[in-house]
This record gives sequence, C-alpha cells and structure tokens, in this order.
Amino acid sequence: METTTSLTGPMDLTEHLNAVRDAALRQIEDAADSDALAAVEAAVVGRDSEVAAARRGLGQMPAEERRDAGRLINEVAQEIQAALEARSEVLAAAAQSARIQAEAIDVTLDYQAVPVGNLHLIQQVIDEVSDIFVGLGYHVAEGPEAELAWYNFDALNTPADHPSRLGMDTMYVDYGNPEDEMNLRSHTSPIQARYMEQHEPPVYIVAPGRAYRNDTIDASHLPVFHQIEGLAVDTNITFSDLKGTLAEFARQFFGPETKVRMRPHFFPFTEPSAELDVSCFNCDGPGSTCRVCKGVGWLEMLGCGMVDPNVLTAVGYDPDELTGFAFGMGVERLAMVRHGIDSIRHFIDNDVRFLEQFRG
Ligand code: DAH
Repeated sequence: METTTSLTGPMDLTEHLNAVRDAALRQIEDAADSDALAAVEAAVVGRDSEVAAARRGLGQMPAEERRDAGRLINEVAQEIQAALEARSEVLAAAAQSARIQAEAIDVTLDYQAVPVGNLHLIQQVIDEVSDIFVGLGYHVAEGPEAELAWYNFDALNTPADHPSRLGMDTMYVDYGNPEDEMNLRSHTSPIQARYMEQHEPPVYIVAPGRAYRNDTIDASHLPVFHQIEGLAVDTNITFSDLKGTLAEFARQFFGPETKVRMRPHFFPFTEPSAELDVSCFNCDGPGSTCRVCKGVGWLEMLGCGMVDPNVLTAVGYDPDELTGFAFGMGVERLAMVRHGIDSIRHFIDNDVRFLEQFRG
C-alpha cells in the first residue's frame, strides 16, 4: 500500500490540504512585514510549496479523481492567495502609517506666541488731543526736555525771584550762572517761546511732551509727567476765542454735552489767566455722590489765559499788532479723569493688567 503520498483518496487529500492551508494561513498571519510576507508567499504557493507538489501529483491520479482533486487544490490555493493579499494590504497600511508618523511635522508644537501690545494710555491721549487740535487747524510742535532757564522762565515773563525757579521745585542741569542756567523743563510752555522765535505769526500749535518737577511720587504727582501746551497768536484773538476753542476741545474729548467754565487764576505768562473746569461727564451736576467729581459737578482741567504782552515782546513779536491765547493741560490728569483711574502711579508701574485695559 502506498504511504508516501497522501494523495491516495479524496478524504486524505482533503485532510492534507486543510493542514497545508491552516499552516499557510498561520505563517501568513505571523509575517511581520512585507519582506517576511514575500518569503512566506514563496514557501506556501511557490515552486517548492505543498500546493505545487499537490498539483504535480494530479498527473499520477486516476482520471476520475483528478477533477475533484484539482478543484480542491484550487480552492485551497485561492484561500491562501486571498490571505496573502489581505495580509499584504494590512502590512502596507501599517507601513504607510508608520512612515506618516515618522515623517510627521507637529505644527502645534512649541511655537512662540507673540503677544500683541498697545500704545501706552498716555501716548493714546497725546495722540487724541493732538488730533482734535489738528482738526481745528493747529500744528504739532516739540521742544527739548533739557531747557535753558531763559525759555523755561524768563521768556515766559517769570521773574528771577519766582518760587518755581528754586532748586526745590525745578530740577537743574546747570545752576548758578543766570546766563546759561539749564533745567529739565518744568512745563511744556517754553515751546511757546521757542516756536514763536522761529516762526512768523500767525501761530496755532499744540506741543505735547514730558515735564519734570522735584516732586515726591504720590497718588497725583510724578516727578516726570506729560503736558500738552497750546498757543494761538494772530491779529484780533480774543478771550472768547480761547473759551470757544477749549469748549470745542472739551466736547470732542469728554462728550458733546460737556460744558466749560472758567475761574480767575494767575500764571506769569498770561494776563488775564484762568483755570478751565469741564462739567462732570459722569453725573448730572453738583450735589450728586459722583465718584468722578466728588459731587462738585465740575472737574479742574487746565490752565490758560491771554498771552502776556511781555511774552510776545520777548520773542520779537509786536504786542500792539498781535494777541493770543495759551493753555496747558496735564495728560495724566486727562486720562485719570476720563477713565476713573485712582492713582497716577498706575502709569509707571508697567503692570500689563492695567495697560492692556486701554487698547485704544
Ligand atoms: N505751564 C502751566 C503749568 O505747568 C500751565 C499753563 C497755564 C500753560 C496757563 C499755559 C497757560 O500755556 O496759558 O502749570
């Protein structure tokens, strides 16, 4: 009896082919990558495979068995082939996703966010006030922060014995010789004199900038602060031009309902001089419990007046021909009043939680 081949009958052949198929499928499943799968393929369907051997065995079979045996072999061969293809797809997909992972660029990783800043509130107010006056036909002028005492005081009709000239109020760069005394400007008013010296009338300017005083820091004082100076010099300028101009400014800056009033005051460089109050934009007037005006109904805003003839003379203008008005306002004060800021120190603390509240 023939024992070396299992192809002796349909049952043996079926068992043998099932075993061949199961072994092949296991090998296919175990192939970890496409190289391994190629080797498995050669072993399970290649020339030296059991399937090929079974096909070769068909030739020795009796013709009546050959058809069924051939069909069985083909079925198993197709199953193995299908398993090879399925595994090949799985391995290809795995290889591809491994490559995608390896080559991936993580665009969310580690980029440096750039915080968007904004202009300091003081600069915003300077820009806004300047824009209002530019809209009224004014030019913007500037001057030096280290200033000759002559421009800071003398040209502005401030006598040598005026208390503001003392070292305890004004910070000097050069002190003692009246010829070339120099100080950090105590206000922006010297820009008036410098500008008139260099320009023919008419003059319509605003001049923003830093000013310096020998003050100790508290809730309403800084030794370095900002002012905006205004000057209009022309023929026939009157006090009502001054009031009308400042009223228009107040309406644009604080709101269209804003009223202004003037109280007599004194400044060396203006005659007459006044302080300008604006009606409180936060309440209905005197007697309220308003936190902005403390119930007064009015807010002190700035100093102003008609340019003293001595100032015009000092810069070579003819006071018989020209008149003018001037005004000076504190930028920090404008900002504090409008935004309800309780301490001037916030402007120099550089706390972004404060600064970023004013994004303009
Ligand atoms: N320079 C004054 C100060 O610092 C403010 C001022 C008042 C300016 C009246 C002016 C003015 O031009 O006319 O207190």
